[in-house]
Amino acid sequence: MTDFPTPLLLGHRGAGGEAPENTWPAFEKAKAAGMHGFEVDVMLTRDGAPVVVHDMTLHRIAGGRGAVKSMTLAALERLDVGSHFHPRFAGERIPRLEEVLDYYGKDMILDVELKGPNPFCEGIEKVVVALIRERGLIDSVIISSFNPVILKRVAALEPRIRMGSNYISDPILLLRRIWFAPFLKPYSKHPQPYQVDEEYMARQRKRGIKVMPWGVNGEEEMKRMLGLGVEGIITDHPAKLREIVDNGKAPA
Ligand code: G3P
Ligand code: MG
Repeated sequence: MTDFPTPLLLGHRGAGGEAPENTWPAFEKAKAAGMHGFEVDVMLTRDGAPVVVHDMTLHRIAGGRGAVKSMTLAALERLDVGSHFHPRFAGERIPRLEEVLDYYGKDMILDVELKGPNPFCEGIEKVVVALIRERGLIDSVIISSFNPVILKRVAALEPRIRMGSNYISDPILLLRRIWFAPFLKPYSKHPQPYQVDEEYMARQRKRGIKVMPWGVNGEEEMKRMLGLGVEGIITDHPAKLREIVDNGKAPA
């Protein structure tokens, strides 16, 4: 396994604070800011296609009703998911994961977050691991999830793949994570920045787990995380992170 650069600089949902999340302009923003890669959220359509979209339903990003999993790929690809951010992004479409892997997989590190709150999953891990394998990208992705069952299945399917365990202050998700902790050793933990301090860092170092907080969006937070020596930062504002890394002369 080749080492990733430290700190690994990743855009969140591409660069969700600078362009419509999980769209091509957002990916390009992350790249233009010199991020090593970016995070995308992935779900399956009704006909089993992995698509890059965050919410289970389309209300927030495309208006109207409907759940991603109850729509076909063709129907989803007709939606405008850019206008909600700004009219100049009108007409942006939901990308298919394989297009994103094909276009960026060789140059950038992709953090592929598998969405699936259902503890029994829906087979998403099989489809995604197969796409990554076919393209020879096992060593340049992280597969992350809030769902430890999905991560367990990924590890069983492909033990060489890096797994990222996502954290948020949700008591149910936290409980599930605690039950699974003894069975899962991820490559990296992705907490929210408020969870990260010296003690947290020391605990993860002892376990050999890398720390890559997400939602690191304010300047002070960025500086604090860099100062603590996190191994990665996932931000909605890659341009700002680039500036801070460059000004602080932190290694990039
Ligand atoms: O990188 C982890 C982060 O993406 C998890 O939260 O809701 O933005 O997918 P969310
Ligand atoms: Mg995500």
